[in-house]
Amino acid sequence: MNLEGKVVLVTGSSQGIGQGIVLRLAQAGADVVINYRSHPEGAEETLEKVQAIGGRCHMAQCPSSQGFTVKADLGSIEEVRQLIAESIQHFGRLDVLVNNAGIEKHAPFWEVTEADYDAVLNVNLKGVFFATQAFVQHLIATQRSGKIINISSVHEELPFPNFTAYCVSKGGMRMFTRNLAVELGPLGITINNVAPGAIETPINTKLLNDPTKLNALLQNIPLNRLGQPADVASLVAFLASSNADYITGSTFVVDGGLLWNYHEQ
Ligand code: BGC
Repeated sequence: MNLEGKVVLVTGSSQGIGQGIVLRLAQAGADVVINYRSHPEGAEETLEKVQAIGGRCHMAQCPSSQGFTVKADLGSIEEVRQLIAESIQHFGRLDVLVNNAGIEKHAPFWEVTEADYDAVLNVNLKGVFFATQAFVQHLIATQRSGKIINISSVHEELPFPNFTAYCVSKGGMRMFTRNLAVELGPLGITINNVAPGAIETPINTKLLNDPTKLNALLQNIPLNRLGQPADVASLVAFLASSNADYITGSTFVVDGGLLWNYHEQ
C-alpha cells in the first residue's frame, strides 16, 4: 500500500485502534495528524513511533512520514473545526479523514443519564458529522477529491444491551455513510465504515480484566481471539489508498466472525 504524499487526520489516535491506524498509515508513507483529548503522553508516544518508522529505515524507499499532534475534544464543535483548520494549516491540506474517536458508557437503559447520552452522542456522532463537514468544505474549496473512513462497530448492526446510546450512535453512523456516499459521490469523495468487533484496546479494559466475561466473549468469536489494532489498521490503509477508489457507502466488518456467529447447539 503506498500512501506517499497523502495527509491523513486520525481522530482519537493517542491509543488503541486510532494509534494502530496512525502507525500503519505512516508505514505506508502518509503524513499523519495525531489527535488526542486527555492523553497527551499517548499522543507523544504515537508521534515518537511515527518518527521511528522513518528513523529505523535505511533503504532507498523509506517512508518519510511526518507526524503532528493536536489536542481537541470531538464532543465540542468549536474544537472539531479548530482541529481540521490546524491540520490543514500544518500540512497545507488534508486528503483523508479517519473518524476514529469514540466512547461508550455502560448502564441499563432505564438508568442512562442525559449527561452520559450527550457525551456518547456528541463524540461518536455529532463530532463525526461536523468534522466530516469541515473536511468536505476544505475539499470543495480546493477542488479535490478525498476519502472519509469511519471507525464504526459491529454494533452498527448488532444489539449490545446496556450500551444503547453507543449502539444508537453507531447505527446513526451507518446511515451517515450511506447518505453521504450518495451526496458526495459526484464530488469524487468516498466514505466507508470499518466495523471492528472486540479489539484489545483501552475501551475494553474492564472486560479484559474479567476472566468470566472474557471467556464468554471468546466463545462467541469463531477465530477464538480478540482482534489487535493492527487487524483494523491494515483495512484502513487499503481504504485510504487509490486501490479503493471505486468503493463507497460500504461497511467492512473486522471481528473474527463475531457478528454472524449465531448457531443452535
Ligand atoms: C465495543 C466493545 C465490545 C465490542 C464487541 C465494540 O464496539 O466498543 O466494548 O467489546 O464492540 O462487542
